[in-house]
Amino acid sequence: MKILQTPAEMRAWRAAHPGSLGLTPTMGYLHDGHLALARRSVAENDVSAASIFVNPAQFGPGEDYERYPRDEERDLALLRDAGIDAVYLPGVEAMYPEGYQTYVTVEGLAQGLEGASRPVHFRGVATVVTKLLNVVRPDRAYFGKKDAQQLRVIRRLVRDLDLPVEIVACETVREADGLAMSSRNAYLTPEQRAAASVLSRALRWAEELYADGVRDAESLRAGVRAVVGSEPLGELDYVSVADSETLAEVEGEVAGEGLLSLAVRFGAVRLIDNVTLGEEKGGDGLSGS
Ligand code: PAJ
Repeated sequence: MKILQTPAEMRAWRAAHPGSLGLTPTMGYLHDGHLALARRSVAENDVSAASIFVNPAQFGPGEDYERYPRDEERDLALLRDAGIDAVYLPGVEAMYPEGYQTYVTVEGLAQGLEGASRPVHFRGVATVVTKLLNVVRPDRAYFGKKDAQQLRVIRRLVRDLDLPVEIVACETVREADGLAMSSRNAYLTPEQRAAASVLSRALRWAEELYADGVRDAESLRAGVRAVVGSEPLGELDYVSVADSETLAEVEGEVAGEGLLSLAVRFGAVRLIDNVTLGEEKGGDGLSGS
């Protein structure tokens, strides 16, 4: 497995591997959610690359950039075992050299939900993903449904900028109690970790309401608020029932595909999760996966 640290090295490797290429972008501290993306890339492409870069541009002041967990050696071993051929591991100076001043902004889609709580976040994500796609030049890039708004922002940016890449969305990988895997789960105390299953429990409850015929968005949001409210260690940041494509908040009844998402704080740790309601194809729910 090759390790490439600069745009020039990465481009040279790509030029020497002209077959179909899959890319899995990550910020490292890998878990089975990341590895499911990497393995799918390996299965679907001639060669596969992953990137590890904790992107300062997507963290706001006072967020966890400095303390974001890192374990490069372990990450590289896991990617090697998953069958990844190359890892792009740029330093901050290689990604944002002195004098850097160009950013990619996706407008409407990036404003609500995570964007409302984290104002610079999606500008940083859109910028770094554009740079990664431009240097690595993959045919397919793999992203998780766990970050539902990020996935939509990236699809929009790829369409709007005519980037020649297919965005592949992968199911959320969960712990046995339903908690979505996340590098940030490592911050939780044992008590908070036990309490954190409240996110998936709240989503499952809303799914049950929906299955019972409840379509009123406010009733679904109220159901989630009640479940999260029953967990004293968790504080609800937001719950949203939105149109799955535009992310416009639903007033009245959910028609077509809806995205139910929430963010919950446990002390300084903020976790997110989501589920799709009324999805045509099925298989995206929490039950049975
Ligand atoms: P990171 O949080 O490391 O996640 C990398 C990729 O793994 C994202 O596409 C994310 O949605 C996916 N992922 C995380 N947890 C998952 C889970 N439990 N199941 C399935 N997929 C999961 O997201 C980022 O990094 C960054 O914003 C990035 C896109 C790399 C840009 O810096």
